[in-house]
Amino acid sequence: MAPISDPCSFSSFSKCVIRHLNLNFYVDFDNHVLKAKVAMTVEVLEDKFSLLTLDTKDLKILKVSANGQDAKFTLGEQQQGYKGSPLDITLPFELSRGQHVIMEIEYETSPRASALQWLSPAQTAGKKHPYLFSQCQATHCRTMVPCQDTPSVKHTYYAQVSVPKELIAVMSALRDGQEPDPSDNNRIIYRFRQPVPMPSYLIAIVVGALESREVGPRTRVWSEKEYVDKAAFEFSETEKMLKIAENLAGPYVWGQYDVLVLPPSFPYGGMENPCVTYATPTVLAGDRSLATVIAHEISHSWTGNLVTNKTWEHFWLNEGHTVYLERMIGRAMEGEQFRQFKAMGGWKELQESVHQLGPNDGRTNLVPNLQELDPDDAYSSVPYEKGFALLYHLEELLGGPEVFMGFVKSYIQMFAYGSATTEEWKNYLFTYFKDKVDILNKVDWNGWMHTPGMPPYKPQYDTTLADACIALSQRWVKAKDADLAGFSKEDIKDFSSHQLIEFLALLLLEEPLTLSHVKRMQEVYNFNSVKNSEIHFRWLRLCIKAQWEEAVPLALKMATEQGRMKFTRPLFRDVYKFDKFRDEAIKTFKEHKDEMHPVTAIMVTRDLKIDSTGL
Ligand code: BES
Ligand code: ZN
Repeated sequence: MAPISDPCSFSSFSKCVIRHLNLNFYVDFDNHVLKAKVAMTVEVLEDKFSLLTLDTKDLKILKVSANGQDAKFTLGEQQQGYKGSPLDITLPFELSRGQHVIMEIEYETSPRASALQWLSPAQTAGKKHPYLFSQCQATHCRTMVPCQDTPSVKHTYYAQVSVPKELIAVMSALRDGQEPDPSDNNRIIYRFRQPVPMPSYLIAIVVGALESREVGPRTRVWSEKEYVDKAAFEFSETEKMLKIAENLAGPYVWGQYDVLVLPPSFPYGGMENPCVTYATPTVLAGDRSLATVIAHEISHSWTGNLVTNKTWEHFWLNEGHTVYLERMIGRAMEGEQFRQFKAMGGWKELQESVHQLGPNDGRTNLVPNLQELDPDDAYSSVPYEKGFALLYHLEELLGGPEVFMGFVKSYIQMFAYGSATTEEWKNYLFTYFKDKVDILNKVDWNGWMHTPGMPPYKPQYDTTLADACIALSQRWVKAKDADLAGFSKEDIKDFSSHQLIEFLALLLLEEPLTLSHVKRMQEVYNFNSVKNSEIHFRWLRLCIKAQWEEAVPLALKMATEQGRMKFTRPLFRDVYKFDKFRDEAIKTFKEHKDEMHPVTAIMVTRDLKIDSTGL
């Protein structure tokens, strides 16, 4: 196999690969650092091997040894951008192909490590104890562990974490017991083991005043005690979803499937960390309507965690297939019309992203070029929804959901425990459907994969559940001021929360409504008091676009009370675009910046075009 290259990693993974990590973390809440020691088992892939390069960013390297002998190392200069500094280690001996070496590195993380957010007690629900969580995807693991920070390398891990004894540590692995820290009787050591090989971006740690509750045979929910009951209710269907997913995709190999609800600053909706999915508290809608996030993260147990994109340029393989599986779970639970409704909503999300980024922007390619791009900057709905649309289009061409799911399952088996590129995926598609190659040859592959903008073909969707949303949104778009009296709360009395989201999303694609329209909408539908975060978010965007000044403080409140980037970034951007309030947006951001997640803070700094050196 030709050596692969990963534009996001410096590490010498074509010459050697990490097979196992043995991690020791001392969590230091006073200084906001992890004092760490990692022992890694490295398999050598070439003869005369003596130079090992690892990815690091903002790490203080204290000592390196190879099989117990001191090894010389140099830390490259801090590189431009997100990649950090290569750590070059010269082994005191030469190794040949097939040999293993145990590298030990003692180091400390920086208080500014972009993988970590250190929360003060005031920033937690309980207000008594500090809290730490990590988020490594895509390229932040290197700020927490010196490693081969590329999804093309997979390894197992074992970890021991020393924390203050009032706190609990959870990692993306199976819990393997705990003991008092022999060196400090105010601390406990938690142990973890991850026996399934996985990429570095799935290493995860949370330390806080956590509680947990069992909600299924292999599922506990974890959170601060203030959220546990709500979380247990919201995620009570997890086992049902896991069983459906196993029927679709094959056995669940990770043992446990827990869900951990993070503090509101968690920058994503969910994160598929093995054995413990992370979730934002903004999915606690109180009616299980946002549990689709869990269906999504469960699906990553196969597409993402078992079969992994080989580099971040192939990220659509992770997310596109996961959205496809997520919607197949939705189909099994709510029916085919529901899947069609969500699929159509996804196409609209894609339109919104292409509009926001611009139809010629490289980030709207299904397979973008990441040579110059930070994956955090490239992040959008495109890999999710262009990826899903391609798979759905293929499903349409090749014989429907059952037939195409057969391929997805077989693809998973084929690449399980490994990683894949778009090319490898496509070759396997042609092999699997060898009798339908003429159909496959008619697909405009270049248009779908390597051309920016909307896809070359729009699939068909059943509109049964969307029709009411479309009709009502059009009534509002077409209404003259004199027609506004005709609206009433009856209009939406039969709408599910999914349909309310869709109704608002449709309006967001239209020209802004007038002020009298949004004021009337508040009067009749009272969206201001709806708790569902997806509804509230779209409603506030609609108000800001209509230049309703009273919505500005509400939008800035939502942008800062929670930190999910999907909500926080557009809300800040919208207020910033509302000329009169541009300074207000910047001022509010600066006031909250220090308590924000480091990645969110950087992204909003860029969105609001603030010179980061002047902060
Ligand atoms: N793995 C992603 C989150 C992610 C992607 C984190 C890239 C960092 C870099 C996760 O599975 C995800 O897609 N989350 C979505 C959930 C949604 C599609 C249901 C989110 O956060 O909104
Ligand atoms: Zn995902």
